[in-house]
Amino acid sequence: MTESVRSPIYLDHNATTPVDPRVVDEMTRMFLVCYGNASSRTHAFGWQAEEAVELARRQVAELVGADKAKTILFTSGATESNNLAIKGAVRALARRGDHVVTQVTEHKAVLDTLKALEREGTKVTYLAVDREGRVEAGQVATALTDRTVLVSLMYANNEIGTVQPVAEVGRLCRDRGVLFHCDAAQALGQLDVHVERDAIDLLSISAHKMYGPKGVGALYVAPRRPPIRLEPLFHGGGQEKGLRPGTLNVPGIVGLGAAAAIARADGATHAARMAGLRDRLWSGIESGLTHVRRNGPAAASGRLPNNLNVSFECIEGESLMMSMPELAVASGSACTSATKEASYVLKAIGLSDELAHSSLRLGVGRATTESDVDAAIEVLVRAVERLRAMSPLWGAVSRRAARARA
Ligand SMILES: Cc1ncc(COP(=O)(O)O)c(C=O)c1O
Repeated sequence: MTESVRSPIYLDHNATTPVDPRVVDEMTRMFLVCYGNASSRTHAFGWQAEEAVELARRQVAELVGADKAKTILFTSGATESNNLAIKGAVRALARRGDHVVTQVTEHKAVLDTLKALEREGTKVTYLAVDREGRVEAGQVATALTDRTVLVSLMYANNEIGTVQPVAEVGRLCRDRGVLFHCDAAQALGQLDVHVERDAIDLLSISAHKMYGPKGVGALYVAPRRPPIRLEPLFHGGGQEKGLRPGTLNVPGIVGLGAAAAIARADGATHAARMAGLRDRLWSGIESGLTHVRRNGPAAASGRLPNNLNVSFECIEGESLMMSMPELAVASGSACTSATKEASYVLKAIGLSDELAHSSLRLGVGRATTESDVDAAIEVLVRAVERLRAMSPLWGAVSRRAARARA
């Protein structure tokens, strides 16, 4: 069967995903029919909205392997969840300690939150990663002190897809009595995240990375005894146990719940299809061009199934993107692309500034077809060849390579 190719081809699913039409249908009902305030206790509109929110809470809990729906708090996205988890825990535990352990390739929503806490006196250890972007549980163990109150480690990286040893670190933290926060924005819907198996205390969730709407997310807070205490970021009407007050975004929450239910049902099938498309993309690039390098883990099991990050020697990533209007891709992380700095993630895994600037992030998604991938390979290979043909640097590199082969 030949599939039609849309143009531009959207290959930026690590930045955001389109909303699944089934999710839109659920949300539309909440906008137009069940538009009550979930806190209104005096009429059916409010009861229906509350019921819909509680269903979404169960759907999200089920996706992350949590037994109890009440462990899920709704927020505006993973950025807010990271802020609430990290600032909330550190401030609540100020009398017990003042030290946090994290690693250098976390998303800015974690790193900048920790920078803000450092200004309040918190001490932070930033662990280095290896050439594939991974930390070892042993590094975390070594960094813990009797003042450590929190470890924050992402499930999978948004630029290079590296999956961290979350379960190992979770067990270590539990043994040592330290809270463990995990940013799972990229992992949910791609990997089998399970908060109980992985001993995760706080898990950040984003709807728009898994075919849900933008501007909504959740924070899982493990049911521990004594309960995990968090200082709220906002104060107000007492919603979400006072931890996230404000009128609930019912359509968004319902959208997140529906997206979670679809992700749970599709799970392994979706991930296997994504990995197949990603591998097809890489082998097409690798066989069409020389002097390319895949960034991140080599082993398929060590990386997100939907993510590919490639450096093209002697090419400037921004120019490459500009010369391919047929493709929607990212250079480095879309979240930081407002800055002209080379990606801190690529630099942390040992790339030079030059090579980091020559990199693209390609993210496949649910609607991506094999024809899309084949068309993208053709466009990419042609664009790289065209730019290299104009590059004096490339002339020298290719002559050197030819001499080495001779
Ligand atoms: C790993 C990671 N954490 C957090 C975020 C921020 O999520 P949100 O857009 O829901 O605030 C992102 C989005 O790019 C991400 O990739």
